[in-house]
Amino acid sequence: MSTTDIEGPDRSGDPEFERARTRVEELAPEITAHRRRYYEDDAPTVSDSQFDELMHELIDLETRYPELKKNDSPTEQVGTFSEAFAPVTHLEKLLSLQDVFSTDEVAAWADRITAEVPGERYLCEVKIDGLAVDLVYERGRLARAATRGDGVTGEDVSANVATIAAVPQRLTGTDEFPVPALLEVRGEVYFPTADFTRLNEAQVEAGKAPFANPRNAAAGSLRQKDPAKTAERPLSFIAHGLGALEGFEPDSQSHAYAALDAWGLPVSPYWRVVPTVDEVFGYIEEFGEQRHRLVHEIDGIVVKIDRLGVQRRLGATSRTPRWAVAYKFPPEEVNTRLRSIEVSIGRTGRATPYAVLDPVRVAGSEVEFATLHNADQVKAKGVLVGDIVVVRKAGDVIPEIVAPVVAARTGDETEFVMPERCPECGHVLAPAAEGDIDLRCPNARACPGQLRERLAFLTGRSCFDVDRMGYIACSALVQPLEPAAPVLADEGGVFDLRMEELLPIRVVVRDPDTGAAKIDAKTGEDKVVTPFARQPDKKTGEILPRKNAEEMLQNLERAKSQPLWRVVNALSIRHVGPVSAQALAEHFRDLDRIAGADESEIAAVDGVGPIIAAAVKDWFAVDWHREIVERWRAAGVRMRDEDPDPSEALPQTLEGVTVVITGGIPGYTREGAAAAVKARGGKATSSVSKKTGAVVAGEKPGSKYDKAVELGVTIVQGEDFAGFLESGLRESETENDEIEPE
Ligand code: IVH
Repeated sequence: MSTTDIEGPDRSGDPEFERARTRVEELAPEITAHRRRYYEDDAPTVSDSQFDELMHELIDLETRYPELKKNDSPTEQVGTFSEAFAPVTHLEKLLSLQDVFSTDEVAAWADRITAEVPGERYLCEVKIDGLAVDLVYERGRLARAATRGDGVTGEDVSANVATIAAVPQRLTGTDEFPVPALLEVRGEVYFPTADFTRLNEAQVEAGKAPFANPRNAAAGSLRQKDPAKTAERPLSFIAHGLGALEGFEPDSQSHAYAALDAWGLPVSPYWRVVPTVDEVFGYIEEFGEQRHRLVHEIDGIVVKIDRLGVQRRLGATSRTPRWAVAYKFPPEEVNTRLRSIEVSIGRTGRATPYAVLDPVRVAGSEVEFATLHNADQVKAKGVLVGDIVVVRKAGDVIPEIVAPVVAARTGDETEFVMPERCPECGHVLAPAAEGDIDLRCPNARACPGQLRERLAFLTGRSCFDVDRMGYIACSALVQPLEPAAPVLADEGGVFDLRMEELLPIRVVVRDPDTGAAKIDAKTGEDKVVTPFARQPDKKTGEILPRKNAEEMLQNLERAKSQPLWRVVNALSIRHVGPVSAQALAEHFRDLDRIAGADESEIAAVDGVGPIIAAAVKDWFAVDWHREIVERWRAAGVRMRDEDPDPSEALPQTLEGVTVVITGGIPGYTREGAAAAVKARGGKATSSVSKKTGAVVAGEKPGSKYDKAVELGVTIVQGEDFAGFLESGLRESETENDEIEPE
């Protein structure tokens, strides 16, 4: 396996990054020391503003390089030494870990060790993104629990830790592992990921600030003055190391874990002892892919030399042991500014607020927008326009805002107000039915936003699959600069388009995400193009079509014979997606029969239910909807499927194509999706390489998606899977949209 497979951005050689790293390592202990003098000794040595300056410098560096932020960074602490918790000195100092950011650095660490002690085995384990605690058991009874603090002194949180079910009050002994006289055990208190979203929603509902991540939630929950409050939170615990110990002498870390387990202390189910660095890389890759499927968040992998005698021989610096290293994953959570919240209109009229962010790299790609779903969601997250927000791509392709960084507020932030009117057509937004959370634009037929989105959808891969008819073409047909009246009033006319109508169309080029006009570098004005026509011939003035435009019309012609399910899907009936469209087409085999069927008959179709049935009836009850069907029929669009000929094999659309499926595909099991690829002549494999023909990215795709992006492999969205099976590989949608050079 090549090490580049699993590396994050390797910044270790970047001088700016190295300067930042050095500075963070100076600042963090300095700030902690000032805090201690202020809170504990009541004898500050710097003014408040000097302290603030240091703190801001650290926040700034950590924002720019989130991988430099330590779990115990002073920026993560809510006034380290509060009066609520008595200080306690740990029996043995709690060391931290040396962070590395690439597998090359892991290899360099291992080389240094091997030079000194060859042939040692490595214990790999996940780095739990929680809050370090130190537990002391005296004769098997939990005597005290403390936070990490500065490694020497922590805070006594015994009463709070006592509420965590995973932490035993008494150890149980076995023949092999009798209870030791004294045990100091270290581990992480964590907040299970599944409970985190729920907690934040409850926080905002109660008028409190949401937590930026599960680690902060764990810290906030553990540091409650009232242990009853801690008890309400689903905190858990995993042990990962030993401090002082009397009455037991483990010979390795893995031996110690076996003992901890026997005594009833939870140890991670994921640790593994391996003999070679290559296997360490394998572990890193494996858990890099799985990181969001574990019960707790992890921010990296810890690699330790297993034998304790060798650990002692290798020793430690003042802060970190030489026998262990922490490989940190590239950050998936970064802070950035929320510039504004805009509202987009979808093809069914739904008004969706989305965040416009200061562009930032998250987990390997640039993020500028994040969906906010609806106005309630904006409220629930507690974000204000102008906030610094935490953005993440938690295994999903779609970035999301986790929470605002409340501490960074300046007072200039403003609350988002959902617009009353549709930003595209000005109609008053309203819920489609009483009690609906979503607001919709009621101007379904003529709203240019809705029509543009419907057109882009119906020409897309899961519907008529019209190559060369991309987003720019659809916008041009609906919202041209010239002529004054759009060529299409609704999608009914899409199969009647003629070149004469297309040639005069001029359109302002817009960013598909923001809708902002692009500026022509030469003129400084809005960039205007004729998307379907070439520049007039210099001599004759003749206006000829672009090649794309000719191909688009040919493809529209061909699209008329697409199978019925694609026609049904293309109608943009609420709740009807490719899976239910296929179920309807297979059952009725004729669009008129679908339109004329009773609601109960539709609801009885396998794969369809009462909600879809009602939506189908509602759709066909609208006059202009039925007119669309009639215009398509008149243009020659296929309205019925022939009865299937059982002797006919499926078209081998994927012959010789290697396909990797990552994430869940709606309507398919993992095996079912692989079988469908096979039935079309393709090969379903599990690892992405340059030879992979396509990666199908379903819900919650893994790192294979990022790999595909990196290697430029074609990506098929999960919802387009059915269309992909039918049509096979074709040029990408983005190429569709390009206006070819003159
Ligand atoms: S071992 C002397 N193992 O990460 C080495 N630490 O950034 C002690 N952490 O202070 C740490 N998961 O609180 C170790 N599996 C793991 C860990 C882990 C999380 C925390 C720990 C440590 C911090 C360093």
